[in-house]
Amino acid sequence: MMNSKCFIWLMLWQLLLLCLLLHCAEGKIGVNYGRVADNLPKPMEVSRLLQTLSIENVKIFDANRQVLHAFAYTGISVTICVPNEEIISLAVSAQAACTWIYNNVKQFVPATKITYIMVGNEILGGDPTIWSALVPAMWQLYTGLRYYNLENKIKISTPHSLAVLATSFPPSAGTFQPNIATSVMAPLLRFLKLTQSDFMLNAYPYLAYLGDGGKHIALEFALIEPNATKVVDPNTGLEYSCLLDLMIDATIYAMKALNYDDIPLIITETGWPSQGDPSEIGASIPNAAIYNNNLVKHVTTLGTPLRPGAEFDTYIFALFNEDLKPGPASERNWGLFYPNLTQVYAISLN
Ligand SMILES: *[C@@H]1O[C@H](CO)[C@@H](O)[C@H](O)[C@H]1NC(C)=O
Ligand SMILES: *[C@@H]1O[C@H](CO)[C@@H](O)[C@H](O)[C@H]1NC(C)=O
Repeated sequence: MMNSKCFIWLMLWQLLLLCLLLHCAEGKIGVNYGRVADNLPKPMEVSRLLQTLSIENVKIFDANRQVLHAFAYTGISVTICVPNEEIISLAVSAQAACTWIYNNVKQFVPATKITYIMVGNEILGGDPTIWSALVPAMWQLYTGLRYYNLENKIKISTPHSLAVLATSFPPSAGTFQPNIATSVMAPLLRFLKLTQSDFMLNAYPYLAYLGDGGKHIALEFALIEPNATKVVDPNTGLEYSCLLDLMIDATIYAMKALNYDDIPLIITETGWPSQGDPSEIGASIPNAAIYNNNLVKHVTTLGTPLRPGAEFDTYIFALFNEDLKPGPASERNWGLFYPNLTQVYAISLN
């Protein structure tokens, strides 16, 4: 006969299982481990830090051997990057692509759990001479993965900034820039669909807020604050509680406009700087703490109005402040951590 103590244990056990199940359906928080700095801890220390924080996804901006070795046997999923400069040569040579996969992937798996290869970074917001090589390079690398039977374990994609959108408001009017829509974006979406990969979006409410100069975009709306005034899309009636959701849905509508409406999306970069030049309004430790803490709660519980319940794995930019980044002061202050491993502000990442 079951006594009451046993019954309570059983209830607790079921509750735990339920929590685990629910947890599986949530977007995961990862970090961008940028290394444009001369004072960062060694990759091994960084690997230990991420294990301590229970961070399961990390993204790097190259395929540095030391870093890839540091994440071996940790179970942490690693996203690596093909440098922009190598895209053209990979696009025209199956041999070069196969060699790239061998040198940067095959040699490290399965000890290091490489899960994504991003081909360049924000290519379509930059040098147009690379654009036509992007999708061919992705196909060549995919063939390289197939050669080593890795195509079911590793996805190939490329991150985009919001600059790829010609229109983003209201979200339902989202479309890609006409000079890339049919020439590059359509073949790219076809690649993602056929290889079951994901659309990668770098989405910065901070930059939109800064660009707007505090005129139309309320700080609370950019900071994912629960008390922000909601914004309604007049075409759909969908209600937006934060700018990030609006950016995500505008991008999904732009994909829909090219007849791709079911490609999963991940947020490969988002964040908020803790310091900036006097002209960089909104860059502060309190705002960075609010945004990133709200972000963690947001992506681990909700989809967007257009894709309710969907998971959006999200990578915070960035793990460390990077002292060698050029540009305005904010550029060197996106980190969750100082190089000495002290947190810039308190944040709960799970
Ligand atoms: C929202 O709440 C924050 C504190 O969490 C407060 O500083 C801000 O003034 C509030 N904004 C509005 C519009 O109520
Ligand atoms: C780490 O670096 C930051 C920024 O330079 C500094 O404010 C903080 O005191 C340092 N912490 C330790 C424990 O040295």
